[in-house]
This record gives sequence, C-alpha cells and structure tokens, in this order.
Amino acid sequence: MQSQEMIDLCKKHTLWSWSASDKVSPLPIARAEGIYLYSPEGQRIIDFNSQLMSVNIGHRHPKVLEAMKKQMDSLLYSFPGSATEVRARVSKKLAELVPGDINTFFFTLGGAEANENAIKAARQFTGRHKILSRYRSYHGATNATMQLTGDPRRWANEPGTPGFIRVMDPRPYDYSFGSTPEEQTKNNLQYLEEVITYEGPHTIAAMFIETVTGTNGILPPPPGYLQGLRALLDKYGILLVCDEVMCGWGRTGKLFAFEHGDIVPDIVTMAKGLTSSYIPLGAMGVRDEIADHFRENVFWGGLTYNAHALALATAEAVIDVLLGEGMVENAVRMGAVMRKEMDRLQAKHPSVREGRQIGLFGMIDVQKNSQGESIAPYNGSHPAMLKLGQFFRDEGLFTFIRWGSFMCNPPLCITEEQLLEAFAIVDRGLEITDEAFEG
Ligand SMILES: Cc1ncc(COP(=O)(O)O)c(C=O)c1O
Repeated sequence: MQSQEMIDLCKKHTLWSWSASDKVSPLPIARAEGIYLYSPEGQRIIDFNSQLMSVNIGHRHPKVLEAMKKQMDSLLYSFPGSATEVRARVSKKLAELVPGDINTFFFTLGGAEANENAIKAARQFTGRHKILSRYRSYHGATNATMQLTGDPRRWANEPGTPGFIRVMDPRPYDYSFGSTPEEQTKNNLQYLEEVITYEGPHTIAAMFIETVTGTNGILPPPPGYLQGLRALLDKYGILLVCDEVMCGWGRTGKLFAFEHGDIVPDIVTMAKGLTSSYIPLGAMGVRDEIADHFRENVFWGGLTYNAHALALATAEAVIDVLLGEGMVENAVRMGAVMRKEMDRLQAKHPSVREGRQIGLFGMIDVQKNSQGESIAPYNGSHPAMLKLGQFFRDEGLFTFIRWGSFMCNPPLCITEEQLLEAFAIVDRGLEITDEAFEG
C-alpha cells in the first residue's frame, strides 16, 4: 500500500490514542531499521523519540529477531500457572540486574498493567488504601493508573476510584519551593510531609513517582530528592514505587534511573525498553519483604498474558543486546554530545528557553519572550510549534512536540554522526520558533 491508502483506511477503521480521529495526521511507516523509519515511498526518517521513548536498542536488531524466531520454534504461549524455561531464565536475570533486593517479578503486558499491579501489591501488603503521586506525571491509561496520572489526560476520565492523592513536585522555572535546587528539595519534602500528616500516614500504602519524569518535562529529580523521599516514606511505612516504564533500561545513562539517587524503591515498574517495544511486555519487581508476604498470602492479581513466553524471550535478547553492545554507556557518551548541542542551540536561538537531558532522555523548551514565558500554554499549542512539527516531518525527523516543548529521545545505539545530523535539522527548525519570538 502507498501512504495515502494506508492513512485513509487506518483513519476510517481505527480509533487513535488521545485524539479525535478527524484531527490525526498519522505518520505512514512501512519498515524500520536501527535509528531509522522508512515511509512506503522510501523516505528515511530519523527516529528522534525511539517511537514512544521505548525502542531503546533501535529497530529490528538481528540478534533479537533471531531469538524471537528460535522461541517460536518451541513455545509461544502457555497459561500463567505454568513454569517455562524462559520464565525461569528471565526472572533470574532480572533479579541479578535490578539493584538491591528486588528479586521477584510479576510480568504484564505493558506499563499501565505493571502500575495497576503495583497498586494492588502495595495495598495488599500494607493493608492501607491511599496512593500518592505527583501532578507532573503519566502512569498509564487504565482506570486506576489514570487516577495516578497528574497530566490532563486524566481529566476526561474522572471521577475515578477514590483514594488517589496528587502532590506537587519540584519543577523547572518555579521558585515557590526555594531559589536553589537544595532548598527546593527540602521545602518540597516538608510540604509532602504535611500532606502525609493531613491524609493520615496509616491510610497511605504507597507513593508513585516517575524517577525521572518523562512526558511531563524530562525532569531529573533535584539533588537529595530521591534520598530525602526514601527516608520520609520509610518514616511512615509508606512504600516507594519507582515507575521506570520510560526512564528505565538505560535511557538516563544508568540501567535504572533510581541508581542516580543511590536508593532502592520497594517496587519498581518497567515496560517499553524491557523489550524495546519489539513485543508488549511489562513487569513489576518487588523487594524480598514484599515477595515473602506473597509467599504466604495470595497475590490478588492475574492476567491471561502473564509471563508470555515469546515476550520473555524477546526481553532476554533485548537485554543481552543492550548490555552486550554497551548501549547504556553509549547513552552517557551521546548524552554529553546532546548536552553540547542543546547548549549550542540555546546560545544561538532566542526562542530556546532551555534544553534538559539526562543520558539520552532530553527535551527542549521553547519560549515566546525573554521573560521565559512558554510559547504554548499548559495543555495548549502555538502555530509556530505546529509549523515546527511539520518541518521536522518534511525534513525526516520524527519526534514528539508537546505544548511548548519537544522531545530528544533517540535510540541508545545512535552514533555521534547520526545525533549531529538530527540536531542539524533541529537547528534549522528553530528558525521557525525564533520568528515567533517576541523579544
Ligand atoms: C512513565 C510511564 N508509566 C506508565 C506508562 C504506561 O505504559 P503503557 O502505555 O505500556 O501501558 C507510560 C507510557 O507512556 C509511561 O511513560
């Protein structure tokens, strides 16, 4: 099929995530390889967002394709109550790789289900029901994870189930918690302790955080935040759940982002990079104390596709490639190149407010004036950002534009030459937003 026929049929017969069908303008993709996507007509497109910040090892790695084919020859799927060799191997491997005493895993289809099951596990383990999360967050689109989520995708899905409390997190350009990052950490945690007191610590099972906030800003936690949060939650017996669905599996330059803060959460959730999205798979990992609880007590959660054999074989091969080919280290090296490029663009383009990155997890904020006002309001858009999006598409760069910002999240296998090629397109595109800059 050619692009237009694909687009027309897809638009006619499918619904689209977070969109009105008549408003979508889908990107036609015929195939993909490494960091590139290809349209049916052969246009080469740099994948500057790893699709949904998820194809961490790049597209169609031959070693993974081989492992998937091999698994197909023996077992694709068996019921969740079965023991399989691949389930044994992958859970053992995860126990070795995930830091601390997180040694036990529950496999799901994706990130939302991993968080759903983390909510269940936290409630069943603590006997408490309330859950804390932060406004600048996305945790999934199921009913409960929508209520965990702070961003506007929640609004149309309210009211949800009771018991979800959202709090502020330290965020860029906001000095209400203090003028230095250290002060912000201290004051934010003091505010959080007040919320915990008013809610009743004995009613709160867990707090969920995206260790590095993803869609809502690529926000690494300020210094001391993770350690301070860990200590505060420990004080009240509240579990810490790190949602590493987006920031895990090497994206930030460490295998898991919580390693940057030298802490171990009680529960970690993951998906996306776990299989590089070659096939759907998520997981919830729990510390030994929680796992021990469920040795005696029923874990009240289950899924038809729990521990799917083909998905696990894919994860195993993806992890081998990620580690074997040094892609986490590459994220650190290329992260430094991204840093330089972001600084260069900020110095050159008046419309660039800031570029943030940790590893290959990056975002550029666009401003409309020298007071630093975002070019687009919260949950809004601006014609220059739409034009920028079209420019990227025409120039063969795929990324996400969100409100007044855009994403810089290439696959972790990207080379310096490829990264510079992508930033050269970004550089030219920013002339569009410079024209809208009001001075
Ligand atoms: C941090 C985070 N948590 C959870 C999810 C939900 O994952 P899924 O879409 O696989 O259900 C996402 C998806 O973007 C995410 O970014």
